Amino acid sequence: MSASSLDTIQGMALDPKLRMGVSLEMVERALVTAAAGDHPDDDTLIVALNYRCNSRCRFCIIETEIDQRLEDTNRAVFQAVYRANAAARAQGRGFRRLTISGAESTLIPDLPALVAAATGDGGFDVVRLQTNARKLEDRGLVEALMAAGAREYFVSMHAPTAELDARITRSTMSWRQMNTGIDHLHAAGARVLSNTVICADNAPVLADHAAFLISRGVQEAHLWSFLNIGDAGQQDELVPLAVSVPPLLAALDRLDAAGVPATVKWFPRCQLGRHAAKLDDHQPQMLIRDEFQVRLSDGFRFDCVHARSCAAFGRGCSGLHEGYVAAFGDEAARLAPVEEA
Ligand SMILES: C[S@@+](CC[C@H](N)C(=O)[O-])C[C@H]1O[C@@H](n2cnc3c(N)ncnc32)[C@H](O)[C@@H]1O
Ligand code: SF4
Repeated sequence: MSASSLDTIQGMALDPKLRMGVSLEMVERALVTAAAGDHPDDDTLIVALNYRCNSRCRFCIIETEIDQRLEDTNRAVFQAVYRANAAARAQGRGFRRLTISGAESTLIPDLPALVAAATGDGGFDVVRLQTNARKLEDRGLVEALMAAGAREYFVSMHAPTAELDARITRSTMSWRQMNTGIDHLHAAGARVLSNTVICADNAPVLADHAAFLISRGVQEAHLWSFLNIGDAGQQDELVPLAVSVPPLLAALDRLDAAGVPATVKWFPRCQLGRHAAKLDDHQPQMLIRDEFQVRLSDGFRFDCVHARSCAAFGRGCSGLHEGYVAAFGDEAARLAPVEEA
């Protein structure tokens, strides 16, 4: 990439106070390559809008930043991103999809205005909200978001029953609110995708959970391994492969039978049997406070005891997260190297 290609995209230079500790250069660099990436998600930029949440999930990856009460991302950052993306799109590059995440973006009153600006001035074709969907029990909010251009909702759905959901989210209202939100989303014609964090609490019931996801009409189901990123207090949610693999395979069978596309993240590929092709560890480019980026890069190490002999390692499969190995060992006997990826 040449310096001049950045110059022509321009527009992300911001006063340090307005930058709020987010590294806009990463996005600037990604804007140059966005349209040329070889993964479908390369057309997506994730921006974290805030660090507050109405739930307190037992495994929350952003709990440290929520506890630090970091400020919401200001509008100057969004405007800089929108300006640069619109300029890049005019040159046939840039991002097509904006995913607004949080902690919990739906807590921000002017979210519909931010969405409208993204599809207007920002040059994005699609806005996706990554959300627990609790605030979407307000039908007026769903209608305002849809009218503004947010048509895709990546909804965290972690449990098939109110009781288990309450245990995981530490909220007795979360399950009812999320379900009402999903009703409103379907009524409004939104695209609803689910995300489930595979953890100690829900692993044994993943097959039932798949039936729940199907009954709720999700158009894609994502299942992410719980990543224990260095912070004390979440280890209880780690779950051994011996416990999680059989129900996960049963869940994937059910989703297949119902015709619901599924994606699995950060799971050893050799454990997935005929579902191995569903493994996809790719994550889109993300703009979030540097504190989180640093903590994540410090705690995002994966490895496999069979790395040298397995053709899949580093070619689609990341092996096991270091937090898992610290708790349960390297699983040398269970993991099975493959000859061809
Ligand atoms: C931190 S949440 C923020 C958005 C929103 N509050 C939600 O829960 O969907 C972003 C995504 O990360 C997932 N997630 C949270 N903690 C995780 C962890 N420790 N490991 C893997 N995924 C996690 C959530 O399920 C969600 O899909
Ligand atoms: S809803 Fe999302 S941000 Fe909130 S506590 Fe749960 S995982 Fe974290």
